[in-house]
Amino acid sequence: MVRYRYKKQNQDCNKTISSGKDKKFMCGIVGYVGKDKALSVLIQGLKRLEYRGYDSAGIAIRDINGKISICKAVGRVNDLEKKLRYDASGNLGIGHTRWATHGGVTVNNCHPHHVGKVTIVHNGILENYLELKTILCNEGYNFYGDTDTEVACAYIDYVYKNNSSSEIKDILEKCMNIFVGSYAIVGMIEDYDSELFVMKKDSPLIIALGDNGTYVASDISAYANDTKEYVPLEDMEYGTIMDNEIHIYKNNKELELLFNTLDVTNNEEGLQGFNHYMLKEIYEQKDLVSKWYNRYFNNHEIDSLVNMNDFKKIHIVGCGTAYHAGMVGKYLLEYYGDIEVQVFIASEYRYQKLFIDKDTLVIFISQSGETADTLACIKKVKEYGVMTLGIVNVENSSIARIVDKVIYTKALSEVAVASTKAYTAQVYVLSMLALKMALANDKLEIVDVKDFYLNLSNLIDKALNYDYKHIIDLIWKQEHMFYLGRNIDYVTMMEGSLKLKEISYIHSEAMAAGELKHGTISLMDEHSCILVMATLERLANKTISNIKEVKSRGAKVILLIREDISNNLDSDCYDEVILLPKGCYFTQPIINIVYLQMIAYEVAKRLGLDIDKPRNLAKSVTVE
Ligand code: AGP
Repeated sequence: MVRYRYKKQNQDCNKTISSGKDKKFMCGIVGYVGKDKALSVLIQGLKRLEYRGYDSAGIAIRDINGKISICKAVGRVNDLEKKLRYDASGNLGIGHTRWATHGGVTVNNCHPHHVGKVTIVHNGILENYLELKTILCNEGYNFYGDTDTEVACAYIDYVYKNNSSSEIKDILEKCMNIFVGSYAIVGMIEDYDSELFVMKKDSPLIIALGDNGTYVASDISAYANDTKEYVPLEDMEYGTIMDNEIHIYKNNKELELLFNTLDVTNNEEGLQGFNHYMLKEIYEQKDLVSKWYNRYFNNHEIDSLVNMNDFKKIHIVGCGTAYHAGMVGKYLLEYYGDIEVQVFIASEYRYQKLFIDKDTLVIFISQSGETADTLACIKKVKEYGVMTLGIVNVENSSIARIVDKVIYTKALSEVAVASTKAYTAQVYVLSMLALKMALANDKLEIVDVKDFYLNLSNLIDKALNYDYKHIIDLIWKQEHMFYLGRNIDYVTMMEGSLKLKEISYIHSEAMAAGELKHGTISLMDEHSCILVMATLERLANKTISNIKEVKSRGAKVILLIREDISNNLDSDCYDEVILLPKGCYFTQPIINIVYLQMIAYEVAKRLGLDIDKPRNLAKSVTVE
């Protein structure tokens, strides 16, 4: 068997590869060629990718007579199984879960697509598909759906038809020279009875080896139980996969592959008695903070972190929850590191003018390590010769592989679409970077904060066991919610607000408490409901004044205030109050967010919603 690949060794931290469902992307791809029945292998793989969110699923099997049978269904993999009428005896096939981008959620748009002699599944977006469609229509091709994938499929067929004496790799290379956009494509050509082809650009694709065959998937979790060795393809690589042979090329040269070994020790599978992954993951934070304490304080990993004092300014880039973690990082780093920090949303950063040079450190935060906008930003800043640091959860993910240095957050696999423990892990890492600066700048000593970190587990436990009923009674029927706070509480509220809207579908807006009276206060009346956080002693009174302004307009106020600064609180200024335990500036945001995660979870639960797979959302956004 030809099993080759180069392995990049650019990371300064742990290099083991975690298994389990820890790589999350939008659509899911599976493929198999081997000795087992492809049908059951593929269905199993698709089921293991279900957590990512999708709206339709499909499968294509080549049977032993060479016939390709395709089955597709809108809905879940279970719905696909109910539709499967053929007894597919073949050992070669591909499957897909689709999250609609181009074209509605219909069976016609669902993958696999089959045109002429070619059948494919595809993740990503083919940007020049309309242009190619026009060429193909002129060549006599007809299209039945609206997807870019059907066009990609037809184009591969077109090139194949016109170069039928060429090897598959040459067909693929020709297509890749024409395709613009992002793609992970796995396919079959009718004349080849024992091989799949693959092509990859800007969308993840891995090849894995098992005892009974070769697997391909967008995410190793699809086959973590069946394989121990895998290799992620890099951009612009393509090739063919058989039961006993793998040939991967770049620029027409065959590559040497070096396989990674799966580390299956760290990821606990299943719900383990919890009703939802989100709740399980919120609870996991209690133990994780102790593990991280060991890592940084007992095993002194703080010493090996990047020395931020080597830089004059820092940019932090991420999306959604990762962006919010970056905002917390900004407050910590600026306060303790005396360094200018700007935080950017990746989809904006990738197109804006940058003022960066070798004195700038650019930090990229991502749970999945595959978010398309964040990846694009890394590629962009590399042109400036700056140093890049990734704060990433999924080990060996695309972002982890291309940054100069990576810090793995070690939150273990996160399954629920709404990120919880991964956020906390990101904040924890950023707090370690800020602490390292504070120590270097003689702003404090490690003994000043160590016990606060040590005590985090107990304080998270308090948040988990709090009785949220009265709070949820106030929120669950609201159409709109407002989350207010100042300074680091404000950015924690941004994340809390996102959590609520993601899973409860209640519109929610976070803002700096002092900003309310500059416009949004016009919305306040007796139907409004406001969640306010005040955990900074020096700013609490100012925040209380702001809530009096909304209370006097009849709004309902839920106040989250640090217990030790709540003594002289006027009970008229809130309807419900949660007394939060005291942390230090570094640890308080971690304590606070757990309360907000629980509130979001309990509201969605009261509403009876699909908490782990909220509508329209995908675990990781691998398209622009
Ligand atoms: C989190 O709850 C969200 N689902 C989402 O905002 C997410 O944080 C964002 O898409 C970034 O993902 P990443 O961390 O995997 O890059």
